[in-house]
Amino acid sequence: MDRFIAADPLAASERVAEEVLRLLAAPRPVVLGVAAGATPRMLYRLLVEARPSVGRVDVVLLDEYVGVGPLAPHSFRQQIHHELTGPLGVLDERVHSLNGLAPDPVVECEHFERLINRLGGIDLQLLGIGRNGHIGFNEPGALATSRSRVVDLTSSTREANAGAFGSAELVPMKALTQGLGTISDADRVILMAFGDAKAEALAAAVDGPVTAAVPASILQTHPNALVVADQAAARLLRS
Ligand code: GLP
Repeated sequence: MDRFIAADPLAASERVAEEVLRLLAAPRPVVLGVAAGATPRMLYRLLVEARPSVGRVDVVLLDEYVGVGPLAPHSFRQQIHHELTGPLGVLDERVHSLNGLAPDPVVECEHFERLINRLGGIDLQLLGIGRNGHIGFNEPGALATSRSRVVDLTSSTREANAGAFGSAELVPMKALTQGLGTISDADRVILMAFGDAKAEALAAAVDGPVTAAVPASILQTHPNALVVADQAAARLLRS
């Protein structure tokens, strides 16, 4: 797992933006995997400012809350629409996400896996990291081979994500997420981590053992993974 430690989140986001823009400029269809949450916000702003051509890109989301539909204001789908795909002009039919309102979540996840396969797989998957080491909504204990599925959220994740819902009790108990196996199938993975609160999780993921207790540690086994962190998040990494 390569590392890029930047002075601050802006410099880190610029590094990632460069790579995403290079991918978008490829003379072929591309599939970009995106994460919701606060971490990639600056990156998405940089991408929008760069006004790349997006005629050949499909965008695939990582996860969504169960019970939250694609049009709900606090859905990850809407976050990505407002911050990235809308301003970039990506057609809605080329943005793909798990539907938290699907009548049968198991079937929804199977369709989603098939869709990713039909698109030819994900070229570049962007990831944030939870304070307990989760990626997507793969909480501690998730299997390395897991595929898209319904998961229970831990109380720490529900607390961390309370913002959009007003309070932790209002955050759904369950979510749909790409599995660790799904994420690992991407050709390239970039994990972004900013701020002091991510330092412990990042150190465990990057320098600790590969273990289900720290889902992001699976990326150590990925042949083409990059960690991009600011100084604060990188403060506990071995040099
Ligand atoms: C959330 C999401 C992830 C996100 C991560 C970090 O729970 N499921 O997709 O990457 O946790 O979020 P943030 O960037 O807001 O710290």
